[in-house]
Amino acid sequence: MATVQRRQFGMSGEVADDGGEPSAAQPLEEVNAPVWDAASEIDVGAQLAEGRIAEVLDALSRDLVALEPVKTRIHEIASLLVIDRLRHGFELESERPSLHMCFTGGPGTGKTTVAMRMAEILNRLGYLAKGHLVTVTRDDLVGQYIGHTAPKTRDVLKRAMGGLLFIDEAYYLYKQDNERDYGAESIEILLQVMENQRSDIVVVLAGYRDRMDQFFESNPGMQSRIAHHIDFPDYTVDELMAIADRMLEQQRYNLSDDAAKAFRELLEKRMSMPRFANARSVRNALERCRLRQADRLVSAGGTVSRDDLMRIEAADVRKSRLLSETTAGAG
Ligand SMILES: Nc1ncnc2c1ncn2[C@@H]1O[C@H](COP(=O)(O)OP(=O)(O)OP(=O)(O)O)[C@@H](O)[C@H]1O
Ligand SMILES: [Mg+2]
Repeated sequence: MATVQRRQFGMSGEVADDGGEPSAAQPLEEVNAPVWDAASEIDVGAQLAEGRIAEVLDALSRDLVALEPVKTRIHEIASLLVIDRLRHGFELESERPSLHMCFTGGPGTGKTTVAMRMAEILNRLGYLAKGHLVTVTRDDLVGQYIGHTAPKTRDVLKRAMGGLLFIDEAYYLYKQDNERDYGAESIEILLQVMENQRSDIVVVLAGYRDRMDQFFESNPGMQSRIAHHIDFPDYTVDELMAIADRMLEQQRYNLSDDAAKAFRELLEKRMSMPRFANARSVRNALERCRLRQADRLVSAGGTVSRDDLMRIEAADVRKSRLLSETTAGAG
């Protein structure tokens, strides 16, 4: 067994890794990518087990409700990297796959959560040396004055080296009607790094579907560098209820049967209102139920059991303004 060096790109305009943080895990490819005899037979399952890759993929399937197409794509990417590594071991050289992605979907549909998991998986597969997530928006990348944008963008890229750079609402980088906008300068630098330093960074652009489509139309260079477009649909009410169950379970709470019915009604109302944010709205609604449960238990005085402390009752849900008022208010 010999160690295979990570492929390096030596193009100009590279952003260096600041080397500050220690790696989250040893990238497989660098540490122990083996070279096999041409006649060897390799056990694919053992390869998956080695970096505890199967474990992270299982956790992803288990922890996240729905999102089947997203899970499928992540499995495919993981498989590709495992096979790529095996091919590497047989000296079947192929280009390192490009993994820059675009996540489209409404608020609270799980984009940031999946990006974090993705970074971890890519780290375990040896694709990313550190596997951390750096989340930014236009303001972190684009300056206000001449000469400010390049250093800002390079600084962000430096922080994200070895990990995943998540650019939220990426379309704000480009302002169609403004020729002198500095966003274009930032996009230029991003494009260069996405092309030349693929080994060191994965860029994920995120935002609403229609606006991302518009952005790509005006920025074909960006479009062509994105290998994976992953869509995060809004959740159905059943999926939101399952997400609520998952969240409650993690926090050691449960809904009584009547409370579950009331919570479903509440979600149905909330879904039709402005600023509904899918799973995040579920999280917020549950927080308020917790507050009301606590208030009920404290106001009642007397004794409480373990079950009392865990159970959210219908009254804790129905006190929500959404259900107690006849005219729909904000909330
Ligand atoms: N499929 C899911 N199963 C369980 N929990 C989920 C799921 N999707 C999202 N969540 C939870 O909902 C919350 C919001 O998710 P997240 O921040 O990933 O959404 P987002 O798409 O990044 O939203 P935004 O576009 O507003 O940034 C998180 O607490 C996350 O754990
Ligand atoms: Mg997010």
